[in-house]
Order: sequence, then C-alpha cells, then structure tokens
Amino acid sequence: MNLLLGVLGGLLLIATVTNGFDLNTFDQLDAAKKSSDKHIVIRDLFVPAGKVLDLTNLQAGTVIEFTGRVTFGFAEWDGFMVLIKGKNIRVLGKPGHLIDGEGHRWWDGKGGHGGKKKPRFMQVTLEDSLVSGLHIKNTPKDCFVANFCKNVRIEYLNVDIKDGDKKGGHNTDGIGVGGSTNVTVSNCKVHNQDDCFCIGSGRDTVFENNVCTGGHGISIGSMGAGKTVERLLVRNCTVIRNTNGIRIKSRKGETGLVKDVTFQNVELQGVTQYGIIIHGNYPDNGPKSEPTPFPIENLTIDNVHGTVGRKATNILVWVYPGSPKNWKWNSSITGGKRRLSCKGVPQGVNMPCGKV
Ligand SMILES: *[C@@H]1O[C@H](CO)[C@@H](O)[C@H](O)[C@H]1NC(C)=O
Ligand SMILES: *[C@@H]1O[C@H](CO)[C@@H](O)[C@H](O)[C@H]1NC(C)=O
Ligand SMILES: *[C@@H]1O[C@H](CO)[C@@H](O)[C@H](O)[C@H]1NC(C)=O
Ligand SMILES: *[C@@H]1O[C@H](CO)[C@@H](O)[C@H](O)[C@H]1NC(C)=O
Repeated sequence: MNLLLGVLGGLLLIATVTNGFDLNTFDQLDAAKKSSDKHIVIRDLFVPAGKVLDLTNLQAGTVIEFTGRVTFGFAEWDGFMVLIKGKNIRVLGKPGHLIDGEGHRWWDGKGGHGGKKKPRFMQVTLEDSLVSGLHIKNTPKDCFVANFCKNVRIEYLNVDIKDGDKKGGHNTDGIGVGGSTNVTVSNCKVHNQDDCFCIGSGRDTVFENNVCTGGHGISIGSMGAGKTVERLLVRNCTVIRNTNGIRIKSRKGETGLVKDVTFQNVELQGVTQYGIIIHGNYPDNGPKSEPTPFPIENLTIDNVHGTVGRKATNILVWVYPGSPKNWKWNSSITGGKRRLSCKGVPQGVNMPCGKV
C-alpha cells in the first residue's frame, strides 16, 4: 500500500514538474506555441537583440506563465519587444519573476524624440482574457499597451521604471489602452516618466485601484483624428508626484469625441504642474494658444482631491466655449499658487478655476 502511494506520489510529482512547455531558449518559441498542452512556461528566457518575443498566433485557451528573469539583447529598432495575441488567454506572472527591459542601455533623456532608436515594450491584443501579476522593469520607452482588445482584465501589473527618474528614462508611458472594448485595469502600480495611464480611443474602460508615481498622470488623449473615448471610469486611484493628476487633451484643429467619463475618488499627492487639466490646444500645454472645438460630454469629476506643489496650478480648463456638455464637478485640490484663468467652463458648473 505504502509502496503504491509512493509510486502514485512520484507520478503526480512528475506530472506537476512537466506541466507546461518549458520555454527557456528562444529557438523553442514556435514549438512552444504549437504544443498540445497549451501551457507555456517562459523561464529565465533571453530574447536575442532585435528579436520579438512573438506570442501571437496562440492557440485559444493558452496559458502563459512568466517565471524567473526574462531579459533582452540590446538593439536600436522600432516595434515591440513582446507581442501577445489570442482568445481566451491567461498571461500570468509567477511570484518572484521579473521581465527586465534593462532600459538604461537605451536611455538618453530623449525618449521618442531622437537619440537612440528605442523599441516599445509589450503589446497585447486579446479577447476574453486575463493578464495578471506581471512585473515589468525599466523599459526603453512605452511599457504596456492593450490595443484592439475585448473583454480583458489587466490586474496587479507592476510597472517599475523608477530607475529612469535618475538615468534618463523618457516617454516611458506606463499602461495604454486603444481601440478596445471592455478592458479593466486594476490594482496596478506604475512608476515612470510619462503618462501613467493613457487612452486615445475605445469604450467601456475601467481604471481602478491603481497607484501612479513619478509620471505624467492619468490621461485621455491626445484626442483627435475623429477618435472616440466613451464610457471610461477612473476610480480609487492615487497619483503621486506626477506632472499632472488628471488630463484630457485634444489636438489643435482636430476633432473626435469624449463622452460618459467619470473620475471618482482620485487622490493627488504633490502633483507638480496641473492637478486637473482639460485643454483643447495640444501640443501646447497650457493657455498659450486658443483651443479648437472638441466635444467633451457627460464628464463627472467626483471627489478628486489632494495636493499639488506651490508652483503648480490646481485646475486649468482651456477648451473651446460650447464644446463641453453636461459636466458635473466636485473637486478639492489645494496647494498650487500658479493661478491661470480658464476658458470654456460650461455655465452652471461651479468649479474653482483660476482660484488658489
Ligand atoms: C467584460 O470583460 C470581462 C472580463 O474581463 C467579462 O467577465 C465580462 O463578462 C465582460 N462584459 C461584457 C458585457 O461582455
Ligand atoms: C483603492 O486602491 C488601493 C490601491 O490599489 C487598494 O489598496 C484599496 O483596497 C482600494 N480601495 C477600494 C475601496 O477598492
Ligand atoms: C453619464 O455618465 C454616467 C457615468 O458614466 C452614466 O451612468 C450616465 O448614464 C451618463 N448619462 C448620460 C445622459 O449619458
Ligand atoms: C463633494 O465630495 C465630497 C467628498 O465625497 C462630499 O463630502 C461633498 O458632499 C460633495 N459635494 C457636493 C456638492 O456634492
């Protein structure tokens, strides 16, 4: 009996150990994607310079696990270093793993505006899927984008580009969502040097329980080219030492639509330029030029509170008069002494614009 149990135990042990395709060398990538158990364990993988960790064409139902430390060779190129695409996929970070971009090899303070050519990091295009617990460090430029996704939850993502603060990280956008429907981003941490979260198009997006440190804030836009963002809920987030707390920006002379957007229970701590900024004259960053028409309808600011630095502006609204419709506003932002007058604030909205 004992012997039998021992044998069974041994078989179980073997079953667990061999569970999943162990992807440890890059040339096994295609085999891993085709393997019948639909379970890829990416373990201490080194991705050669200029190659894509191409996890597209996945079989529906595939589970991808990251374990150990995944690293990349250095090359100056455009494109994404990691692509993930499929239906009913689970992308999971195992405890202690790290996906390390070692971005310092590219960083030169110029980001996407010259210097070394820097790849973007990870793009997912998923349907009915989950991305959970990834720990991504020091990407050369943009970190994570969910493009053309549907019914996807992204949770417990740790975007740690803190080193970029001192070593020349720039345009290291944290989490972006574009062209997607029903994407929820929750319980994530982002420390970076550009937008913490940004969305340029899509519907039914939730960004909740996230903490942003060091970057450029939670951002809609820059809008334009006829794109629409509708039904976005940003809830229970903390924005620490970002240049902006919340921003909605549209490009000068371009149109589109922002509709049914709510920011609720968002706390700002030590924001350095604008607590809330809504402007229709991007790329200008403030009341330098006239805003152009861009509809922003059914916007709710509910309990957005906290502090900005002395040199900052608490709130700036600089939009084309008549563009906003049905705004509800309840904010309490203090600390900024840089007083700027507002433009286009809808009638009847009691907003402490231009006040310190
Ligand atoms: C939205 O996506 C989630 C998965 O993140 C799914 O559970 C939910 O059913 C989807 N909602 C709709 C209306 O499809
Ligand atoms: C708000 O977000 C923080 C940070 O993610 C989290 O710890 C906390 O549980 C959230 N609160 C609620 C009410 O969801
Ligand atoms: C305004 O937005 C809120 C929150 O997204 C939504 O519940 C409500 O139905 C919208 N109202 C209109 C008139 O569209
Ligand atoms: C604004 O929000 C605060 C915090 O939730 C709340 O106490 C206050 O009553 C609200 N004010 C209005 C006018 O809704």
